[in-house]
Amino acid sequence: MAHIPESFVQEVLSRTDIVDVISSYVSLQKKGGRYFGLCPFHGEKTASFSVSGSQQLYYCFGCHAGGNVVSFIENYENASFVETIEMLADRLNMSVPYEKGSSAQKAKSDRRSIIQEMNREAANFYYAQLLSPAGERAMNYLKDRGLTDETIRKFGLGYSLPGGNSLYNYLKSKGFDDGQLKMSGLVMFSEDRGPYDRFFNRVMFPIQDASKHVIGFGGRVMGNAEPKYLNSPETEAFDKSRNLYGLHLARSSRREGLILCEGYMDVISMHQAGFDNAVATLGTALTGPQSVMISKYGKQLLLCYDSDNAGVKAALRAMPILKRSGVTSRIIHMEPYKDPDEFIKSLGAEAFEERIGDAQNGFMFMLDIHDRDFDLEDPQGYTDCVNSAAHRVAGISDEIERVTYIKAVSERYAIEESIFKKKVDNIGLSGKAISDEAPGEPVLTGMAVKEGIEIPQNILLSLLADYPEHFKEVKDNIKPSEFEGELYQKVADMLYAGLESGRASPALILTRFEGEEEKRKVAQMFGGTNMENSTQEDIRIAIKEAMMKIKAHAAANIPKEESGNALQKAIENQKIKNRLRSKK
Ligand code: GTP
Ligand code: MN
Repeated sequence: MAHIPESFVQEVLSRTDIVDVISSYVSLQKKGGRYFGLCPFHGEKTASFSVSGSQQLYYCFGCHAGGNVVSFIENYENASFVETIEMLADRLNMSVPYEKGSSAQKAKSDRRSIIQEMNREAANFYYAQLLSPAGERAMNYLKDRGLTDETIRKFGLGYSLPGGNSLYNYLKSKGFDDGQLKMSGLVMFSEDRGPYDRFFNRVMFPIQDASKHVIGFGGRVMGNAEPKYLNSPETEAFDKSRNLYGLHLARSSRREGLILCEGYMDVISMHQAGFDNAVATLGTALTGPQSVMISKYGKQLLLCYDSDNAGVKAALRAMPILKRSGVTSRIIHMEPYKDPDEFIKSLGAEAFEERIGDAQNGFMFMLDIHDRDFDLEDPQGYTDCVNSAAHRVAGISDEIERVTYIKAVSERYAIEESIFKKKVDNIGLSGKAISDEAPGEPVLTGMAVKEGIEIPQNILLSLLADYPEHFKEVKDNIKPSEFEGELYQKVADMLYAGLESGRASPALILTRFEGEEEKRKVAQMFGGTNMENSTQEDIRIAIKEAMMKIKAHAAANIPKEESGNALQKAIENQKIKNRLRSKK
């Protein structure tokens, strides 16, 4: 495999302009400091794909795809790193000075397949342990939970032996070295203990990608210990945000669309009961890329999250993400049971099929939860509720859909349709509609706080990269350590250092991160604004506001005792202000 010298890669990149390159794939229009076009990575009607010349990054506000020119071509052309550099060099009429040996990127794809091989061997090992006398308790556990031998085999379930390093020894005997084992996340290395297995005495759930490679594991305790599940760490082969548990089977299901549920066990129970179109996320909230994957299997998704508060909250969060990829959700209700696994075990497949038939329209489900925040017995409470619901209807992005919902929702609240329609239209004109594609918490109040801080942080980082003249003021007010989140702190640190030396490059910062997920998050940070046609004054104000929010957030997060002082101080300040005011 050919290798391209790093100096040549740098030369090509320094001569390449991302706007030029992407323009040859996507029709772009300049708006303010950025270029916009239809995103090539998800289907959309309005342009939310943006390219920044000053940052040399692209970012899609719809599906959150983002990166530099190399990642664009890699993703768009499905090309390897070497092929990408070849294409870019070709545009510049530069000939590539190949060297012998293996390139960094070749090594990377090698590493990925080595990790997959190790995982495959580990899955075989765990499966064999489950069937062995040592695995008796684990086998009983799975049988008690109603799984058949066939299901256990189909999902390749297994058992990790208690204590020690049996997997380590097994993989060593298969010829893998310590460096490779460390990379797999299956083995840990401690100074005093030496190598030891990450998973022990757990029931093992191999996680496979759509092409059936084993990319990681979930391991469950057989009882009530914490943590209930331990998952493989993210590796070069395991990206939790871009895979779905069970998809390798669900993709060939003859049922229409997919069913999305929360847990591994839910997927397995459903498949066993014949609902072989069930998938689950990998212990995290649904992501944009997963939602794009889901959209390839149908424009309607059945959501089958747990019936508890956390499940409801997760469903409400997933819906707008799905909507952005053009997927509408229907909710399967499992009351009085907690999850599909319990439901099917208690009532069986036929009853579950009925619940699928009764699945509720996602928007109406959202309104049901929404209404709980209002006192519907009180005329004012009722009015507020209808008004608030009208903001949601006004935010339905598809016009035909919106018209349909105006009718349905006016009936729901027993309001004359024409009056309700007028209300909805006015809200639409006022720009106060709450979009059905809006990220974050759609209804439940008070929960978006944590996510909320990411928005001003993104705004500040991207404005700083685009308008370095504000750096001095920002640095005097906000330290990198005052950003919330380790990744933000790292990125802020690098950006500050770059600005300090007059060479700030978000594209370069991006290349310092290894994992796909981190890269995407960093691109998202720099894609944080959409300040088309803004004046210098707008930008100054936006920076000020973002700084204030970050400051306030950092202050609210300081330990109790100190925050008590801060509160005390705020009260004192207010008293002084009042005194001053009363003097006037
Ligand atoms: P059972 O409790 O065995 O029925 O499993 P479940 O798959 O139904 O799990 P549950 O609904 O409690 O959780 C849903 C998913 O969240 C699981 O499948 C895991 O992916 C993840 N999860 C649950 N508990 C933990 C945990 O303690 N740590 C981590 N990392 N993930 C967890
Ligand atoms: Mn469960």
